[in-house]
Amino acid sequence: MKSAIARLSAETAGVLGEGLRRAADYAQANELLEHLSGIEGFFAREPEMEQCLALLEPAVAVAEDSGRREYGDFQTPASLTNAICSRLVQEQLTPDVVIEPTFGQGTFLISALTHFPALKAVHGVEIHEPYCWQAKFAILELFVRNPALNRPRIFLHRSDVFKFDFRALTTQLNGQDTVLVLGNPPWITNAELGSLKSSNLPRKTNLKALRGLDAITGKGNFDIGEYIILMMLEAFSRRKGWLAMLAKNSVIRNVVYDLPRAMHRIGDARAQKIDAQDHFGASVDASLFTCRFLADTNARTCKVTSFDNPASVERVFGWIDGRFVSDAATYPKNRRYDGISPLVWRQGVKHDCSQIMELRLRDGKYMNGLGSELDLEPEPIYGLAKSSDLGSPVVAKPSRLVIITQHKIGEDTAHLAEDFPKLHRYLSENASLLLQRKSSIYRNNPPYSIFGIGDYSFKPYKVAISGLYKRSGFSLVPPFEGKPVMLDDTCYFVGFEHLPEAAIGWALLNSEPVQALLGSLVFLDAKRPYTKQILMRIALDRVASDTSFPVLVSLLHRLGQGLCLDVTERDWHAFLEVVKRGEATVSPPSLFASTALSPTG
Ligand SMILES: C[S@@+](CC[C@H](N)C(=O)[O-])C[C@H]1O[C@@H](n2cnc3c(N)ncnc32)[C@H](O)[C@@H]1O
Repeated sequence: MKSAIARLSAETAGVLGEGLRRAADYAQANELLEHLSGIEGFFAREPEMEQCLALLEPAVAVAEDSGRREYGDFQTPASLTNAICSRLVQEQLTPDVVIEPTFGQGTFLISALTHFPALKAVHGVEIHEPYCWQAKFAILELFVRNPALNRPRIFLHRSDVFKFDFRALTTQLNGQDTVLVLGNPPWITNAELGSLKSSNLPRKTNLKALRGLDAITGKGNFDIGEYIILMMLEAFSRRKGWLAMLAKNSVIRNVVYDLPRAMHRIGDARAQKIDAQDHFGASVDASLFTCRFLADTNARTCKVTSFDNPASVERVFGWIDGRFVSDAATYPKNRRYDGISPLVWRQGVKHDCSQIMELRLRDGKYMNGLGSELDLEPEPIYGLAKSSDLGSPVVAKPSRLVIITQHKIGEDTAHLAEDFPKLHRYLSENASLLLQRKSSIYRNNPPYSIFGIGDYSFKPYKVAISGLYKRSGFSLVPPFEGKPVMLDDTCYFVGFEHLPEAAIGWALLNSEPVQALLGSLVFLDAKRPYTKQILMRIALDRVASDTSFPVLVSLLHRLGQGLCLDVTERDWHAFLEVVKRGEATVSPPSLFASTALSPTG
């Protein structure tokens, strides 16, 4: 309350102080404040009124609250809330009721009160008490300064949005009233909350009770803003109205992804991109997500525009013929190759302890991430290519080395002591760092365990792509110093026994049809644009059957730049058979034994 009162203008503080001093009791004080501001139950208890009176005396220093990360707190500046509400007015939105599920300092509430003259009621929820006071006093200030402004009934609840009963609220609303759900829900993921040991999450029971949210429970990571938007659609999309909420682009994508399952009746879904760096100082891609409730059609797609140029649609993403795509305009041309990959895409090795597990070679000696020189047996040490190594079409030399302690997940590591005593000593000396690995996958597994490991990791030839980078090119990763190269867990790959089949797979994956398909499926603003799920949609068998041998040869020459990657027609037919059968690694060795990977003069 302190900081909220300190922000009041002298005029409003004067009006408030005088009114409160005249009030006989706190019920009368609340009456006066309802008259002044429209807010019902301004003070929940008498001591709050007394505190307010005391604070109105001197000027108070503002003490801002810290440690609010778990609340995904990015207060929207008034310049943006005003611009958004003006835009909604231009678009002929005339709400009777505004609902702000996490109203914070109340900038959206103030903008709504000043922009929507026909408002009858405003309902807001916020968990953080100081913000509740700030919002209340900001509204009071607004009406003291603008006595002629329309004054709807205002209900501001200090509550956890996940516990607030929005269904009860819907039953209180007049069936004819149009609703606008407005705001900017928290920007934080459940994984971040986990690392903060925060419980600012929806209760599981709620999750199950709400339709359409099973998608979220199945997802490893989700943003709580996503959950709140789905809660709002669940509660209000069967009434007349709209939703207009700021959110990360990833949140909007997930909401649209969940639409068919959730069966919300919405239309005109749009994501208007904003500059989050400029407005929030946050380097994240975010937009204003808007949609209309009770639409005559079920929207399954969302138009993307910029907030500054809403008339120019950059692309449309969402569901087309039961497939989720990033670009609905180009997708029909590429849909033939959207199927099931005959090759199994794998994620690279995960160890979560690069200081100990990743090595570099300096003057022929192994160096770990702590800068220590190591004497280790070379057998369990392999080349390691990371996303940054996959910038070139062929990874001739991986940038690092990695210790491989297992051949498959969960394999016993006790044998290391006998088979590789130097390595075993090194790992046991550094066991404390390995034990600190946070991920729960390491619990109840043998010491020094790694993940993303299996027979496939030891295929000598790999074709790989970075999950993190925007580039859609695939790199060929041949063995290094006679051993297969491992990829790290930011990369995805398919493995091959022989160079010709790897070279053919590599050429086809870099061919125009696959590249165009990826352009229609991939969201380049995602944290991980390329995922196993997307790569498993590449129907390489169809791409292969639509490609002629001469076209393949010219593709290889174009990509090979300086490398002799000759494949024979026999290799090509063998590859066609392999992708038709659906497994690239069972080919008989003799078929692919001829080609060597060598630089040409
Ligand atoms: C991104 S900020 C936006 C605030 C406000 N809507 C705005 O646009 O300025 C998110 C708000 O959600 C609030 N919040 C976080 N978790 C909450 C919860 N469980 N229940 C209610 N409010 C919550 C935070 O305190 C913060 O004010």
